[in-house]
Amino acid sequence: MLEERARRERLLAREASAAGACRLCAIGAQRRNNVYGEGDPCARLMVVGEGPGETEDLLGRPFVGRAGQLLDKMLGAIGLAREDVYICNTVKCRPTLDGPRGPRNRAPELDEMANCRPFLDRQIELVSPDVLLALGAPAAKSFLGRDFQITKMRGRWYAGPGGTPLMVTFHPAYVLRQTGGEIEAVKRLVWNDLKAVRAKLDEVEAARQSPTPAAVAPEQSSLFGS
Ligand code: URA
Repeated sequence: MLEERARRERLLAREASAAGACRLCAIGAQRRNNVYGEGDPCARLMVVGEGPGETEDLLGRPFVGRAGQLLDKMLGAIGLAREDVYICNTVKCRPTLDGPRGPRNRAPELDEMANCRPFLDRQIELVSPDVLLALGAPAAKSFLGRDFQITKMRGRWYAGPGGTPLMVTFHPAYVLRQTGGEIEAVKRLVWNDLKAVRAKLDEVEAARQSPTPAAVAPEQSSLFGS
């Protein structure tokens, strides 16, 4: 496992350099740092957000601002430390709009997500998580198409890249923007989605520990066959 972790780390570092050199989108020239992703290269859960914000752009690390602090708490609620998971975004450069007080965050455009998609796909392939968790509509759209409506379609299981089970929930920044009674209502929905993620991780692990008869049948038939 140590060798495998080192192998994945090496390959992810190579990909991070390639992403850092990419200038397919205009935001590639505007950002301060490429925010490739970080975490356990052998993680069972991969979290995919929208795109780096100001703090992430400054530090070159995903989810390290206010939304990141809430994400850490969300993960903690299902028994996962930040270091246990792999965290990245649909786009690796901070998407910005010019504002009177300097650049402001904006959602990534579809073409920016498409340009960055090979980097995301390679991350998923290398980390090979048991479960993917997409945070917010842009991340969900990047996997499930532009018609994805988060309020109606979150909280269900989808097949992500390579058939990896994919759950979509609200982005922590969206949770932080809620006011009044909405805060508790949205948190409850997120909590339900997180519990489903925990249950799926446990289910996959249980199946790995004790394969069902159906799962061992092909091996048995080749052992005892003809
Ligand atoms: N929001 C995101 O979607 N990603 C980050 O890395 C930070 C905030």
